[in-house]
Amino acid sequence: MNAYLVCFEEKCRSRFAADLVIYNCPNCGGLLEVQYSGTQAPADELKRTWRERRMSNAPLDQSGVWRYREAIPFLEDLRHAVTLREGSTPLLPGPQAAHYGGLDSLVFKHQGFNPTASFKDNGMTCGVAQAVKLGRKRVACVSTGNTSASMAAYAAVAGLDPLIFIPNGNISYGKLAQALEYGARTFQVDANFDQILALVRVLAEKLGIYLLNSINPFRIEGQKTIAIEMMDQRDWVAPDWIVLPGGNLGNTSAFGKALREMQAAGFISRMPRLAVVQAEGSSPFYDYMLHKREFKANEHPLTLATAIKIGDPVSWPKARFELEATDGLVERVTEQEIADAKAVIGLCGIGCEPASAATLAGIRRLTASGAMRPDADVVAVLTGHVLKDPDYIYRYHTGTLEAPDGSRIEPRFGNKPEVVANDADAIAKLIGD
Ligand code: F0G
Repeated sequence: MNAYLVCFEEKCRSRFAADLVIYNCPNCGGLLEVQYSGTQAPADELKRTWRERRMSNAPLDQSGVWRYREAIPFLEDLRHAVTLREGSTPLLPGPQAAHYGGLDSLVFKHQGFNPTASFKDNGMTCGVAQAVKLGRKRVACVSTGNTSASMAAYAAVAGLDPLIFIPNGNISYGKLAQALEYGARTFQVDANFDQILALVRVLAEKLGIYLLNSINPFRIEGQKTIAIEMMDQRDWVAPDWIVLPGGNLGNTSAFGKALREMQAAGFISRMPRLAVVQAEGSSPFYDYMLHKREFKANEHPLTLATAIKIGDPVSWPKARFELEATDGLVERVTEQEIADAKAVIGLCGIGCEPASAATLAGIRRLTASGAMRPDADVVAVLTGHVLKDPDYIYRYHTGTLEAPDGSRIEPRFGNKPEVVANDADAIAKLIGD
């Protein structure tokens, strides 16, 4: 198979060599997508091969990304692949969450089980492999936290220099701590995510740094494997719905591409519907999809779910296309709804970071409005681990969490630590029989 880059714009569709360092179409400025020429092995054969690789101890077979390498064949030489054994994340049923969301049952695909505890690892292993293949030494990203943590780790493994740009004061300490620990040079910039992305693009061009934001189409190839692995774990039976949080909309693009490719190649017989959920104060894609007229960026995005605090999502044209291809939709939810949904996911013994909980909050809205049937077969993608943002958790449970507008979040599922004296009898009395 041969990889090349194609402009995503319908009217353009220009093609470029896969080893060009471009992030937008040089002809029209459109987003780029990786495509392949050549013949892929039949679906049944690949399903068997991929299942057999689960028994293997070879590093690339243990990776839940490279195990599916025939679906992302952009590396001629697999020695360029850099793996921390990413992917292989579980499908976990959450009965309490299903009940809360108005569903008979609900399963979470928990991407927080990844090496740096978010779904970004699925894409980063591929983005960094492409950087290695191209001989690039320095890599950079702007991030709300998870991309930077992931890039720092994979760059460290590959021996590259990671440069990280983050919005000052707007990422959780868990994520910042990871980037520092993995040795990334970290710049805190007094600007929001969208402004810093523009800045980093200028720097990347000027200094020949390889950009690893989700505008990089090779990262999208890696994130496709989240959907592929999900179908593999479900014995190739597609659910009715896949629910995702939406920020920069790279993951939505990746899921759509994976589903289209799996259906075209006969891996699945029907398309699941994609539901994207945004935080109310940061929902430009929701607003756009209402009328599909002009895309208007939100210059001051606001949400405590900092991972999805993005006002100008670069991948919106792809996300729109993928929602149309899957008969999908977009929903938005309040800060209170995200916080409560997150606590309910916690009560399932599962837990996740705030942005991930937008999925369950969205499901609750969609079942209430009748858009999603209670008996629907639904998989919600939990994008990050519960420990990514412990400060948020402590504030919620102690009733001190405030929304960006200053209003207090009600701890409807609050669980305050109790202060007790060092006295066995008194504590026994509190606990009861
Ligand atoms: N959930 C989490 C935990 C995230 O970190 C992100 C994005 C999203 C959802 C949204 O995914 O951008 O593909 O729509 N985080 C990015 C970052 C932007 O820099 O870590 P998306």
